[in-house]
Amino acid sequence: MIVAAAVQMEPVFGQPQHNLQTAVDLIEAGPPANLYVLPELFHCGYVFTSQEEAAALAEPVDGPTVSALQEVSAQRQCTIFAGFAERADQTIYNSSVLIDQGQVLGTYRKIHLFDKETLWFTPGSAPPPVYQTSSGRLGLMICFDWIFPETARSLMLNGAQILCHSANLVLQWCQKATVIRCVENHVFTVLANRIGTESRGGDTLTFTGASTIVDPKGQVQAAAPETEAAVISAQIDPALADDKTIGPSKINNLLHDRKPDLYFQP
Ligand code: ACM
Repeated sequence: MIVAAAVQMEPVFGQPQHNLQTAVDLIEAGPPANLYVLPELFHCGYVFTSQEEAAALAEPVDGPTVSALQEVSAQRQCTIFAGFAERADQTIYNSSVLIDQGQVLGTYRKIHLFDKETLWFTPGSAPPPVYQTSSGRLGLMICFDWIFPETARSLMLNGAQILCHSANLVLQWCQKATVIRCVENHVFTVLANRIGTESRGGDTLTFTGASTIVDPKGQVQAAAPETEAAVISAQIDPALADDKTIGPSKINNLLHDRKPDLYFQP
């Protein structure tokens, strides 16, 4: 059994120290958890107006934001998954980092960029990964990845028990789709979304909050409000996601009954 938590917050654009402190304060004030998922781009905000702005706010994986999260993870002996703008050489990614017991296990760079993100970021070129951690086998995804069901399916086929979904959602349907992704893949999801409105450079986006933790039967174990900061948590058993049988006689199996040869192949 672990306690999984989603940290829902309102990043202030261009204020990484403030945003980091907000996240740490929420974690410290919230219920103790083994796994914390933070929103996409939690340290810098979302509505960029130029590539230069994104580059200026991006940090290397050994930069101050990830280092501070490593300290929190080491102190609390927990797992943290958080979205951040990453600078690697001269390339800027909408990225995320997975930290366990103070150690960086890896990053995942968003492959499905949304709307104007395509102007500011380079898409990742590696598949969404799965890592064995002290909180179970975690599959990593970022926001708009949700609309491609292949993302969750790939993570499940790769052994994920819990989908860690770091988000800045502006469309209305993801929380509903999350329930379906959990059922069709028989996995948990911890979805950490942000709240608030950002108006910059003539663009205004309102983020939908309603972070959620869903179990493999599609039952919502915890849900945050749409407009307030919150840490939601639930006690979950990651091993429940390993049983892919389905139906009253347990004859069917989500893994073995697939017919990949009969599905569309390019
Ligand atoms: C999104 O991918 N941030 C909507």
